[in-house]
Amino acid sequence: MTQYQHVIVGSGLIGSFIGGIIGQSARVSFIGRSIWLERLMAGITLTDYAGTEAEHKAGKGECLEELPAKIERSVIWLTVKNTALTELLARLQPVVAPDCVVVCCQNGLGAAALAHKYLPGIRVLQGIVGCNVVWDESLKRLQKTTEGEFFLEQPESLAPELTKALSTVQHKLLTLCWRQDIEAVAWAKLQLNLANSINAIVNKPVRAMLLDRGCREVIAALMDELLAVTAARNIRLPKLTRVPARYLSAVLRLPDWLFKRLANAMLHIEPNARSSMWWDLQAGRVTEIDYLNGAVAEQGALSGVSCPINKRVADQVKSLQRSTLVAARRPLDGNTLKYQLHLE
Ligand SMILES: NC(=O)c1ccc[n+]([C@@H]2O[C@H](COP(=O)([O-])OP(=O)(O)OC[C@H]3O[C@@H](n4cnc5c(N)ncnc54)[C@H](OP(=O)(O)O)[C@@H]3O)[C@@H](O)[C@H]2O)c1
Repeated sequence: MTQYQHVIVGSGLIGSFIGGIIGQSARVSFIGRSIWLERLMAGITLTDYAGTEAEHKAGKGECLEELPAKIERSVIWLTVKNTALTELLARLQPVVAPDCVVVCCQNGLGAAALAHKYLPGIRVLQGIVGCNVVWDESLKRLQKTTEGEFFLEQPESLAPELTKALSTVQHKLLTLCWRQDIEAVAWAKLQLNLANSINAIVNKPVRAMLLDRGCREVIAALMDELLAVTAARNIRLPKLTRVPARYLSAVLRLPDWLFKRLANAMLHIEPNARSSMWWDLQAGRVTEIDYLNGAVAEQGALSGVSCPINKRVADQVKSLQRSTLVAARRPLDGNTLKYQLHLE
């Protein structure tokens, strides 16, 4: 039987990183924008904070700007943002053969369900990228800047050749972690991603945001709402960080002096780092807010749990998305944000 091919669909930061890793042991094709395809054809370095390195150079025939007429016997690693997913799935529908497997790698909630809807009869698995990846243009380097594994849904049965194909994502740069409780992992990752919107709203680096107790209190309130939703659904959140999920908000609420002492690891971030939602907002792009804080509010409503802070934060990000003055706004302090969100 022929081996599975690998196709990265939407090769930006995550797609190029995952594809670069798969490329260490298998053939991989990339579908993406020309800027990324040129980088991949010129050759990129993959690194992590510990100094591990790998190189990948894609061949011309492995880089496409458009979907091919047919994709057969392939693992399709779907790595566009949630905001691009519906349009892409509609275009994939007539192209994907039934012997393909689709791995959805989006943050937040809803991507795999959407893929199931558009690709009936195709096996869809959920993947969760637990780390952050950034691009360094001067060094042509994709850098994994935080700890975090690649969590992959473990279905009840999987043919050995498919297990082998999916395991090509295992590398010393990225640990593959099979999970039967992938829904719980998605919620646990979402808990960590709730701060992205606050970073976008307050318009200052992540480190400065974490050193502002008012901002931390808002993030803690967002997390408490998510914990109430998962508790109502009997979802047990796995531990993705040094601090277990249920204690994170208590740590965030500590006074500055104690927070700095106890949460030192959280502050080990590059002083100018910003969340991807901040970058999207500044560039006038639609953000993933509906799949993050918006999804918590929506799922809360379905479970009879009110999530007013997540809802107001989602509304505030959407209002910034519509504003023409977003790039020129001034940084906001945490106490002002608390007041705006009626959180006092
Ligand atoms: N970056 C991280 O550190 C990180 C970590 C964990 C999880 N995630 C999640 O992973 C997902 C991907 O994030 P990312 O940061 O990799 O995003 P990204 O860098 O924007 O990559 C997505 C790429 O797909 C392209 N694209 C969109 N529609 C396409 C289409 N129809 N055909 C071909 N290419 C298309 C985008 O181009 P345009 O920009 O032109 O649309 C972009 O270059 C998100 O859900 C994100 O939340 C990201």
